[in-house]
Amino acid sequence: MNEYDSRIIENLMIKEGFTPSKDANNADIVIVNTCSVRGKPESKGIETARSFKRKGKYVVLTGCTAQQRSEELLEVADLVVGTREFQVIPNALKKKLDRRMYLDLKGTCDFYFSGRRTNKVLEYVAIQEGCDNFCSYCVVPYTRGREVSRLPEEIIKELKYLEDSGVKEVTLLGQNVNSYYYKGADFADLLKMVDEEVKIPRIYFTTSHPRDISLKVIRTIKDARYLKPWFHLPLQAGSDKVLKEMNRGYTKDEYLEIALRIRAEVPEATISTDIMVGFPGEGDEDFAETLDVVKKVQFDNAYMFMYSIRKPSPIYFKNKDISIDDVKVGVRLRTLISEVNKGIYQRRKLMLGKEYEILIYGPARKSPKYSKGKTENNITVVVPGAFSEGEFVKVKVEKIIGLTPIGYPLNVLASLTNDFPLNRGG
Ligand code: 5AD
Ligand code: SF4
Repeated sequence: MNEYDSRIIENLMIKEGFTPSKDANNADIVIVNTCSVRGKPESKGIETARSFKRKGKYVVLTGCTAQQRSEELLEVADLVVGTREFQVIPNALKKKLDRRMYLDLKGTCDFYFSGRRTNKVLEYVAIQEGCDNFCSYCVVPYTRGREVSRLPEEIIKELKYLEDSGVKEVTLLGQNVNSYYYKGADFADLLKMVDEEVKIPRIYFTTSHPRDISLKVIRTIKDARYLKPWFHLPLQAGSDKVLKEMNRGYTKDEYLEIALRIRAEVPEATISTDIMVGFPGEGDEDFAETLDVVKKVQFDNAYMFMYSIRKPSPIYFKNKDISIDDVKVGVRLRTLISEVNKGIYQRRKLMLGKEYEILIYGPARKSPKYSKGKTENNITVVVPGAFSEGEFVKVKVEKIIGLTPIGYPLNVLASLTNDFPLNRGG
């Protein structure tokens, strides 16, 4: 979501005559878009702003941290702009408006399209803003405000613009896309509309709340042409006691039922997740329940975090003192990562020997002689060869290195002799 917002801000600035600089050190103005979901990213955002301010830059601080800690941040920034007013940035800079803070949270996302412009292969489109869930650990409802769904026509207009610009993949964004609702149209209706009217080769959405995802949505994805089967379904925790304390609105069994239902209905679907360890009061037996879900589902990808106490999340005011010691939380995180990786490896192994159409999105991290691309169900595959961004390449997965599938282009494979030197597995 922040990356999307940053692209919109950049485009709004360009439209008003500003020129982007490749290196922030050479810029006159530095805009820092912050995240406050956990303590670490929050401090990183503030420190980044502080260091540019010290170098004499004009610093704009925007995003969640700006929204929330506004006044104290005037010390590290010249202009503080919240999460729903960033469209004011170019004017505030050009017209030298004397206000230094813009923090209204009541606005809608109507300005998104005015900032649209793209030269990318992978893009995002926000379909809603804010969140009404109030999970007890989370600041998002306070930093991004109440949930607002965007007009379906606006969403389609933006998608069509991206289609005409040659974008190959779009992710529809919202904190809880399954609660999308606009005048009688629910999320599945929106998805159907998108699939009928927009011809972008790969369309995804995130994030699905396990409580709200419906069979109608799962089946819509199954029958769709352009919507592809990847589900990001944050688990957070596996114990019913912890889930209740988190105010997540589902039980362990309900989560398992949804995840396994997705796998049964759409066999090629991948499921990724977010999991937290060290939530206040989480006992060893609660953590064991999380591991049990991980074993049963075998996620295709996961983001894992140590719980970080956030003000003004509801639990901050309630349970401040029931924290678990950091060493124990660190051990839990390592145990979790190792269990999640076992599941990922099992899932990756199923790819061996199969053919996939890969969308190339850049050079591989370790060597420009390799490219990285994604399968339709959103798994990154490394491909030997320097392919162009946006190219589709048919590959066969021949080995797994670590957790990364290596896919050889079919035309290369066809030209190789019988003593083809690749090892299977690995
Ligand atoms: N501490 C740790 N992780 C958090 N997340 C949200 N709030 C917190 C917190 N206070 C994680 C959740 C969410 C992801 C975006 O960030 O797992 O799904
Ligand atoms: Fe935060 Fe929960 Fe909303 Fe996700 S659903 S943004 S975790 S309050």
